[in-house]
Amino acid sequence: MHRVNRLSRRLFRLSAVAQTRATCAVNKDVLLVKHHPKLAAKHTQHVRWLNTTCVRTGLVQFKLADIGEGIKEAEMLEWFVEEGEKVSQFQDICEVQSDKSTAKITSRYDGVIMKRYYDIGENAQVGTTLVDIEVEGEEDGTEAKQDETPDVPTTIEPPTPTQTPETQGVLATPAVRRLAKEHGLDLNDIKGSGKDGRVVKEDIMEFIDQPEATMTSSSPTMMPSIPTVMLQDKTEKLKGIRKAMVRSMKASLDIPHFGYDDEYDMSELVLLRKKIKKEVKHNTGVKLSYMPFIMKATSAALAQYPILNSQLDGGHENIIYKADHNIGVAVDTPHGLLLPSVKSVQNLSIIEIAVELNRLHEAGLNNKLTQQDVVGGTFSLSNIGSIGGTYARPVIFPPQVAIGALGKIQILPRYNYDGDITKSHIMCVSWSADHRVIEGATMARFSNLLKDYLENPSKLLLYLK
Ligand code: COA
Repeated sequence: MHRVNRLSRRLFRLSAVAQTRATCAVNKDVLLVKHHPKLAAKHTQHVRWLNTTCVRTGLVQFKLADIGEGIKEAEMLEWFVEEGEKVSQFQDICEVQSDKSTAKITSRYDGVIMKRYYDIGENAQVGTTLVDIEVEGEEDGTEAKQDETPDVPTTIEPPTPTQTPETQGVLATPAVRRLAKEHGLDLNDIKGSGKDGRVVKEDIMEFIDQPEATMTSSSPTMMPSIPTVMLQDKTEKLKGIRKAMVRSMKASLDIPHFGYDDEYDMSELVLLRKKIKKEVKHNTGVKLSYMPFIMKATSAALAQYPILNSQLDGGHENIIYKADHNIGVAVDTPHGLLLPSVKSVQNLSIIEIAVELNRLHEAGLNNKLTQQDVVGGTFSLSNIGSIGGTYARPVIFPPQVAIGALGKIQILPRYNYDGDITKSHIMCVSWSADHRVIEGATMARFSNLLKDYLENPSKLLLYLK
């Protein structure tokens, strides 16, 4: 009796499995015809084959994960896989760009890409499906599964030059685009020999073999082009960093700014840096500009005036005094203005600050800043003087409450305490502060203290770690 029961239970299980598989095949066919008719025939065969070999598959809707920082959408920059192409775990699927950074999305599955949901240039909302993947594995795919733990980007970096909209008009497969990118080539510079001018792998290899191949418009060694006069208006969609600037500058408009300017005599610091910069470069390879001294002195002054390193909370009920002095530095890059910050300056020596600043500057210029680099600033400096100019009107980056713009250090005549005229190295500093939180007198006292440290750099010795 027991045996009969066991047998009938087994028969029942087998028939349930058979039914499930039949449903699975039907569901998949319906989904496939709906989403990607071209692959339907191929896929149907695939399902039948699976049924006979007992390897099960599932259609996973692979979604754009929440990449943090309140980012709601990201622009599709580049696809690395085609529909119908096999994909393996950890393989890059696509690259998206939010208004803060870009992220490569990697697969968490082995399988086949059945459908891509966005075209290049389209905005993907966080939480929506990027691709359908027909997963190879143990799971029984009775219906399209929701990817419950969507992929988290493995690398977050600013846009790379090959992802500019200009190359999007060039016909090329993702593999060819990747190859061009690896060799730092601009697809616009390569004549395509494929159908409709499509750039194929051979075109890239031929281009590389030419001696002048590296002299593309994306090459950093290229001479600046001769400016041409525009014949008509041109409209360009605001994207990435520039779009983020619109948002953050609009937010800063809500802040009642007040300005405060002063000039600092940098003569001693100029001398000090002159004495040691070659040796530092020789011994450590680090470029020692004025900024590491200014940042260390700023941190020492912030320790005395912590309200300048504070933030107003969202409800405007509390002031949060930040423990770390994460000093943001405006970095001018070909892609727009970036504001990475050197973290915990209060714990760093001047040389350590220099190392980190060099890294951030380099990363900014090469589109290699990470999300971590650009978040968390608590106070900012903008060294506009490295480009030129005397005074500036800096704009606060909320939630920070103050920012300083440093002018160019110039040799100017000034009276000394004895009433004699001397040649001094003068740097004008322009402060902007949030008047809801910072009083003018506090800003002036802070600036006086910083001026004292920079005019007498030996006092900074007290703050060396
Ligand atoms: N006055 C005079 N000389 C200056 C200077 C200043 N204010 N700032 C820098 N210099 C000198 C440096 O000491 C260095 O000289 P050296 O070659 O003898 O060593 C040279 O100019 C180049 O310095 P730089 O490479 O710019 O390094 P830095 O550490 O001083 O500055 C950045 C790094 C990232 C801040 C700077 O390159 C930058 O991007 N500044 C622009 C910021 C900006 O756009 N602000 C506007 C925001 S709205």
